[in-house]
Amino acid sequence: MNPFLTLDTGWRRYDGFSNVKKSWNHCTSWAALAGVLAIGGLAACAGSLPRLTSAQKERAARLWPGTTARELGRGRTLYVRKCSGCHTLHLPAAYPAERWSAILDEMKGEARLPEGEAWDIERYVLTAAQ
Ligand code: HEC
Repeated sequence: MNPFLTLDTGWRRYDGFSNVKKSWNHCTSWAALAGVLAIGGLAACAGSLPRLTSAQKERAARLWPGTTARELGRGRTLYVRKCSGCHTLHLPAAYPAERWSAILDEMKGEARLPEGEAWDIERYVLTAAQ
């Protein structure tokens, strides 16, 4: 949607000043709404998702031997990519670890995740959850 294109049509369609003004208000509110959805939506989802600290990464490597920082980073990226299609992202801290395991078991089916991706996401979420 291009608000300026709509405004232009409005300008030609309406000849009274008040009508033109009405059309402008209509357009700006749509443009503002689109802006909030595009910018606000992104910031509220991916941006507020925590990045793991070094201490958390070390803890993950102790818990699941062989887990690398790279895998944990991939888990976070996949979480944003694969888990935000149907609903907004749930912050890892929103649920205790045991609850997350059950949720992820169900959601990896919803998101049709290959096992490897599900495992990366699970390690990221469980590490970030505490
Ligand atoms: C195909 C759509 C879809 C995808 C993709 C999806 N979800 Fe969901 N999710 C749902 C639906 C529907 C619900 C609400 C109903 C339910 O709990 O089963 C839900 C609920 C949730 C909840 C809330 C559960 C609760 O009990 O409060 C969490 C957390 C969640 N999803 C996490 C995820 C994660 C993590 C992923 C990525 C692996 C994901 N979702 C991908 C559809 C989806």
